[in-house]
Amino acid sequence: MTIGKKEAYHTLTPHPSLEIFFEVFTFRSTIGNCLEKLYKRFRTPYFGIFVLNKPYLVIKNPELIRSVLITDFNYFRDRSTEADETCDPIVSQFLFVMKYPEWKPLRAKVTPVFTTAKIKNMLGLINEVAEEMKVYIETILHADSVEAKEVCAKYTTDVIATCAFGIKSHSFQHKDAEFRVIGRKMFEFNLRNAFCQSCYFMAPSLVKSLKFSFFDRSIYKFTREVFWATLEERKKTNTKRNDIIDVINQIRENSSSNDEIKFEGDRVVAQALMFYGAGFETTSGAMSFALYELCLHPTIQNKVREEIKLVLSRYGSITYEALQELKYMDMVLSETLRKYPALPFLDRICVEDYKIPNTDVVIEKGTSIFIPVFGLHYDPDYYPDPEKFDPERFSEINKGSNPACCYLPFGDGPRICIGAKFGLMEIKIGLVRILSEFEVKRSVDTPVPIEFETKCLLVASKVGLPMKFSRVTD
Ligand code: HEM
Repeated sequence: MTIGKKEAYHTLTPHPSLEIFFEVFTFRSTIGNCLEKLYKRFRTPYFGIFVLNKPYLVIKNPELIRSVLITDFNYFRDRSTEADETCDPIVSQFLFVMKYPEWKPLRAKVTPVFTTAKIKNMLGLINEVAEEMKVYIETILHADSVEAKEVCAKYTTDVIATCAFGIKSHSFQHKDAEFRVIGRKMFEFNLRNAFCQSCYFMAPSLVKSLKFSFFDRSIYKFTREVFWATLEERKKTNTKRNDIIDVINQIRENSSSNDEIKFEGDRVVAQALMFYGAGFETTSGAMSFALYELCLHPTIQNKVREEIKLVLSRYGSITYEALQELKYMDMVLSETLRKYPALPFLDRICVEDYKIPNTDVVIEKGTSIFIPVFGLHYDPDYYPDPEKFDPERFSEINKGSNPACCYLPFGDGPRICIGAKFGLMEIKIGLVRILSEFEVKRSVDTPVPIEFETKCLLVASKVGLPMKFSRVTD
C-alpha cells in the first residue's frame, strides 16, 4: 500500500477527521490539541487525516518517529511548513522553514552561535537582566495577583534583545518598550495571527494564493532598521559584545562567493528575528508554566529553593558550572516541558518514497507528516497519571524507562531545536533569581485546571498565569 494516495487514507482512517481540523480554523481548538484527540482515538501506530483535502500521515509509534526524525532523516529532512519570498521575505529565510539544499549549510553557519563557549559569554548579559527582574518584582509584591507570563515575557524579551540585537530594551521600566510591543504583536492571540500562522503549517497552498505574511509586516520593518543600525553603530565604534549579533556578523563577514548559500541581506536579518521569535516566547512560556506548577506545589517549590541555596553557597554566584548542578531544577523543567511543550506537534515532509520498516507500506514522496507531541506527552502508557506534575519521572533512575522519541519538547534529530541549551540556561537563571528571593503562591485568579488558548500555535493559557509573589520568609 502507498500512503500519500488519497484512496489509502480511507483504509488508514476508519473515521473521517476533517471535522476535527475544522475546529482549528474556527478557533475551537489548536493543531496540538486536535492531534492529541486523534492520538487517543486511533490505536494504530500511524493514521491518515485530511486537512483541506490534503492528506497527512500522523505517526504515534515512537520507533517509527525515531526513524523519521533521526535514522532515516534523509527521507524526511524538511518541514512541511512552507513560505516563499513573495509572501514573506523574512520568514521564508528562517532556518526553521528553510528546506534542502539551503537548510544544511545555513544550519552549519548558525550553529556556532550556540556553542558552550559562546553561551558562557552571554551569561553576564543574562544575569544583568535577571537583576532588573528582581528589582521589578520587588515593586509588585503588594499585588494580590500578578501575571507571571508577563513578568517572564519581559525577562526573556530583554534577554534576547540584549543577546540577539545588542540592545537594552528596558521592558521592566516601560510597559510599552519597543521590543516588548513587537514581541506581543508576533504572538498576540488574535484572529489574524491564528488564521495566518495555522495556514503556514496546515494549508500552505492558501498562503501562496492569498500571499499573507506569517507575522505582521511592521515587525519586519522594525527588525531591519534595528539590525542594520546596530551593525553600523558597532562598526563605527569598533565595539564587540560577544553576543548573537556579533556572531551573525562574523558569519556574514566570513562568507565568500564560493559558499553554498549567500549569507546577506534579509537572510541575515531573518536569523536575528528568528532567534528573537523562537527565543522569547518559548522560554517565557516554559518559565511561567514552571512557576505555575511550583505555585500549586509548595513542597516541590521548597525543594528547588533548597537546591538553589546549596549550589549558590558553594559557587557564590550564578556561574555556568553552578547551573549544571541544579539537577532537581532540571527535573522540574523537564516535567514542565512534558506538560507544556511550547510546540505541541512536529511536522516533516517525505522527500523520497519511504518503505516503513517491516511492513509493505510505502509513504509516498510529498506526504506531509505530523508528530503529535501532546499526545505522546500525555500518553499514560509512557507517563502514568499524565495530568500529575511529577518531576521524579525525570530522575536519573526513571528517565531512561520510556522508549526514545516519546519525549520531544525540543524535537529530535538533525533538525532539533538549535537554541535548547541557551533557552534552558536563560530559564534557569531567571528561576534562580526569582526563587532565591521570592515565593510564588496560588491566588484567587490562578486558573486550575488550565484551559489552553485556541488562537495560538504555541501552548499558552487562555487567561494567562496570574499568581501571588511574596518575599521568602525563612
Ligand atoms: C524552552 C525553549 C524552547 C523550546 C521548547 C523550543 C522548541 C523547539 C522545537 C520543538 C523545535 C522543532 C524541532 C524539530 O522539528 O525537531 C525547535 C526548533 C528551533 N528552535 Fe527552538 N525551542 C526553544 C528555545 C529556542 C531558542 C532560545 C532559540 C534561539 C534563540 C530557538 C531556535 C530554534 C530554531 C532556529 C529551530 C529550527 C531548527 C532547524 O530547523 O534547524 N529555540 N525549537
